[in-house]
Amino acid sequence: MALPRSEVVSVRRREMAFSEEQHAVWRDLYARQLPNVQQFACREYLEGFDILGLPAEQIPQLKDLNAVITPRTGWSTVRTQVRYSDAVPWYHHFAKRQFLITDYMRGRHEMDFTPEPDMFHDIFGHLPFMALPEYTALQDLFAPAFLRATDAQRETIKRLAWFSTEFGLIREDGQLKIFGAGLISSFGEIQHVMAGKTPVRPFTVANVIGYEKAIYTFNEVLFVIESIEALKVELAAYFDTLG
Ligand SMILES: [Fe+2]
Repeated sequence: MALPRSEVVSVRRREMAFSEEQHAVWRDLYARQLPNVQQFACREYLEGFDILGLPAEQIPQLKDLNAVITPRTGWSTVRTQVRYSDAVPWYHHFAKRQFLITDYMRGRHEMDFTPEPDMFHDIFGHLPFMALPEYTALQDLFAPAFLRATDAQRETIKRLAWFSTEFGLIREDGQLKIFGAGLISSFGEIQHVMAGKTPVRPFTVANVIGYEKAIYTFNEVLFVIESIEALKVELAAYFDTLG
């Protein structure tokens, strides 16, 4: 079924050309963040990172990323000009297993923290995970739930996504590791969190539901999942009550 125009995000059909400065920003962000993710990211991210083989020297083209991701998971990446998309059209793409990548790259003044997700966040933070079927099975849960939910339930779903796939922590062999793509791509916040400066609580729907997303600041509290499987069980139990 074709969606009304307001329900779809405009997408670019052709590969993009980037400026030398944009490639240089990517190169510097990558070089600064690599030691942090090697030390702090969860094993699933690092596994996906090895599989995907993101280039250190220049912004990758989506066709090269899709050549790895799509055969493994059925998902593909799609370039969009929208810088911070509304959740409704975004989840319509999610339902088609399309992961939107913005064409915006942060400037030099935002190397430590950007409130607006840029292509470094979208690609470096999210895409290694999207090469793993056990992870995309988690992402597959969100769109059907969101699209049948009431407006109030949609706000809850956005918080659940925010505090798991964007800013979640995971326990691994007794240690806290970084799970969320928003932390993985943030030089400032990953260090803040791993220095123990952010209070953490167990990830349950009941715990998360009371906390607002922190877009312009570091998060005041974060939540810990025990495993991707445990997160799926927790989310699915809630999603089954919707609609
Ligand atoms: Fe994100």
